[in-house]
Amino acid sequence: MRPTGPREPWEGRRVVLGVTGGIAAYKVVQVARDLTRLGAEVDVVMSRAAREFVRPLSFEGVTGRPVLTEAFSAEGAAVHIRLGREADAVCVAPATADLLARAAQGRSNDLLTTTLLVARCPVLLCPAMNDRMWAHPAVLDNARRCRDLGYVLVGPDSGPLAVGEADGPGRLSEPHEIVARVGRALGADGPLAGRRVLVTAGPTREPIDPVRYVGNRSSGRMGFAIAESAWLAGAQVTLVTGPSALDDPAGVETIRVDTGRQMFDAVRPRVGEADVVVYAAAVADFRPADPAAEKLKRREMEGPPTVAFAENPDIARETLGLRREGAVAVGFALETSDLLARAEAKRIEKGFDLLVANDATEAGAGFEVETNRVTLLEAGREPLPLPILPKPIVADRILARAAALLRSGVGSS
Ligand code: C5P
Repeated sequence: MRPTGPREPWEGRRVVLGVTGGIAAYKVVQVARDLTRLGAEVDVVMSRAAREFVRPLSFEGVTGRPVLTEAFSAEGAAVHIRLGREADAVCVAPATADLLARAAQGRSNDLLTTTLLVARCPVLLCPAMNDRMWAHPAVLDNARRCRDLGYVLVGPDSGPLAVGEADGPGRLSEPHEIVARVGRALGADGPLAGRRVLVTAGPTREPIDPVRYVGNRSSGRMGFAIAESAWLAGAQVTLVTGPSALDDPAGVETIRVDTGRQMFDAVRPRVGEADVVVYAAAVADFRPADPAAEKLKRREMEGPPTVAFAENPDIARETLGLRREGAVAVGFALETSDLLARAEAKRIEKGFDLLVANDATEAGAGFEVETNRVTLLEAGREPLPLPILPKPIVADRILARAAALLRSGVGSS
């Protein structure tokens, strides 16, 4: 019954999702669905008031698990102990003013608040209420107390409210933001926790005139998958990408650029801060040297135009010396022949600690597809060929090696 995606990074992780009585409860069905889709086992605990807004059946439909409502269920009085002990994260959304008050006081008058007292994992509270209620000193006091107790407050956001006189804060954070924050809590002990990862991705567009450009077929999928995978592993991630139709990955600082030179300018000041730098962008090697200021018009030209090219910066090579000592550099080589020999030469030439080689001519690998077949090359190791896999799983495998190199201190200096 559980929906399955290409991978389930939170498989085996348990999340208690508390829902208290606010109109925003309907949005939390999406949170439950997304967490489940990412592999988590989601136990939804609803207050009586929450059940006035959304029926438990909606949550049961998306999690495939029974919704818990009473402290004293058929499973016995110990259900709150089990829930709290086994949870890897607890998230309450929406958290009403009343829930904040009870959490702040350490009360235990229902299943959710008792679970809060038992839990020792990260707890996130996502307040949502009328803006006047949120502005009341008693509510702000309780929110402060909750923070002092170690609970993480997510939101409230500002924006339109169900019944709001202003655009003041009170709105539940967006479901994708809540999922991102839960993910951050689950990644807190991941292999890249506390590390910074910088990723380049996508193609570049080099203008010929204001409407035409020289580009390539990169979709950005591989780089985006790496950024997301690094974030799921606990890293603080910056993604610098050329034009891509893909959405910003959850939790990742995403910087969008057009040209190779813009990418270089965005990457250069950030390389020195990164523990892992992944150069997954397909940067154009050459750009039209002198793009026309006006759109070129056929009628005004004498035959086909000739475009002169200038060399673009090689971002990987030119940022080599800026890397922090011990940082791990990962590069890509997309070749159409003589794959391993050319890839190994590129690894050495550009100073990559890990090189991901793939053959552009192979079906199911390279540009514009959801899967990839790559071989991982490292100094002093036999090449490691991987089977054809979905790009998110390839990303996980690449980062697992990068994390191992980082731990062993093999990174370039
Ligand atoms: O030489 P080639 O383009 O095949 O090298 C590929 C590797 O170098 C990739 O990791 C790519 O992201 C990086 N690169 C770069 N800047 C360029 C060209 C390639 O960072 N201008």
